[in-house]
Amino acid sequence: MIDLSVRFSPSAFDKSTVEEAEIEAIVRAASWAPSAYNEQPWSFHVALRQDQAAFEEFLKVLSESNQTWAKDSSALVFSVARRERRKDGQKNDYAFYDTGQAVAHLSIAALSVGLQLHQMQGFVPAQCRRLLKLETGVDPVTAIAIGRPAHDQHFGMAHRTRKSIEEFFAMHREAQP
Ligand SMILES: Cc1cc2nc3c(=O)[nH]c(=O)nc-3n(C[C@H](O)[C@H](O)[C@H](O)COP(=O)(O)O)c2cc1C
Repeated sequence: MIDLSVRFSPSAFDKSTVEEAEIEAIVRAASWAPSAYNEQPWSFHVALRQDQAAFEEFLKVLSESNQTWAKDSSALVFSVARRERRKDGQKNDYAFYDTGQAVAHLSIAALSVGLQLHQMQGFVPAQCRRLLKLETGVDPVTAIAIGRPAHDQHFGMAHRTRKSIEEFFAMHREAQP
């Protein structure tokens, strides 16, 4: 089995750059995520570290505490979701869920090339909407910092705890006569 404990949200990045082609490759890989009605409601808006002006614009949308470490990442991303179905304009109740799945796929694709993601809810949605010129019916979901972890992590790894499996796993067996 793949060891998914090696994925983590870095609290410090190493300030290196990542080529556009590499980011494009992991986003393409993430597009194989499943989605309700194959709607693929997600989009990824990306600013690379080497594109300083764009990177700064994205950074300013983040909460101050997130800016302190995200400034050292290689790429800043906003995942956004189209909340109406393309084919009939009906509300897509699974748009956020599917976008999250795409980001989960992105995180695994990133791992395979030595990159890690740190997702964030700490950003100002209205500012994000303005920056990305999002139309009605398209909403920002998460901000994401992508990069290579710095050698020393601000929070170490001890905070990475998980619930015990009994708390979220229920096996239903055939009732005994
Ligand atoms: C939707 C979402 C929002 C998050 N928002 C923030 C955030 O604003 N700031 C932050 O430092 N971490 C944020 N995180 C990271 C979580 O705190 C982190 O995933 C969690 O503590 C588990 O750690 P791990 O990813 O290293 O396993 C967010 C993660 C997710 C999935």
